[in-house]
Amino acid sequence: MDTVANPQEAVRDNFRAMMRQYPATVTIITSHMNGVDHGMTATAVTSVSMDPPSLLVCLNNRTYLHEMLQHQPHFAVNVLAKGQVELSDAFSGKVSPEKRFEAGHWVKHASGLMTLHGAHARVICKRTVAVPYGTHTLFIGQVTDAFVSDQTCPLLYENAKYCSAHPTV
Ligand SMILES: Cc1cc2nc3c(=O)[nH]c(=O)nc-3n(C[C@H](O)[C@H](O)[C@H](O)COP(=O)(O)O)c2cc1C
Repeated sequence: MDTVANPQEAVRDNFRAMMRQYPATVTIITSHMNGVDHGMTATAVTSVSMDPPSLLVCLNNRTYLHEMLQHQPHFAVNVLAKGQVELSDAFSGKVSPEKRFEAGHWVKHASGLMTLHGAHARVICKRTVAVPYGTHTLFIGQVTDAFVSDQTCPLLYENAKYCSAHPTV
């Protein structure tokens, strides 16, 4: 007798395969609480609105950054440049949280948040909304400062590989 696959499991597998091949821009999100700076690699970042200027970040509720943003509202999104793969690796678990800022040129912004000089872009946000959903929370931050370089191009992640985009013409 044929075994009928669990349809929910099949949807989950197909969705995972789809997301694996969904190109995304690599960022390091930083925050600060009780005298401690922390940062983690994240690709689930997107703009929400121009009025007010705002960004959405989706954080797994098991991460320390998630805990920080539950308790205080300030965070910075550092969009990595294509040469910054090592920083992405460091901030996604290869390096312990206390040692992550040892590599790269990190500078304290006037907001008190760590920002990466040499990043493709930097955005300073104040969380205004937090919506728990499944394993993650969607944090929307109102943008209070933003910078982008016209000298660099962003680091992308697709199919478990780092890459960068090229114009089609
Ligand atoms: C390319 C890449 C993208 C990631 N994107 C996210 C993300 O958008 N949200 C998230 O919660 N974790 C994401 N992660 C996983 C976190 O970076 C990882 O769990 C990190 O170790 C969490 O920080 P912590 O160890 O300080 O808690 C991503 C990891 C990689 C390698």
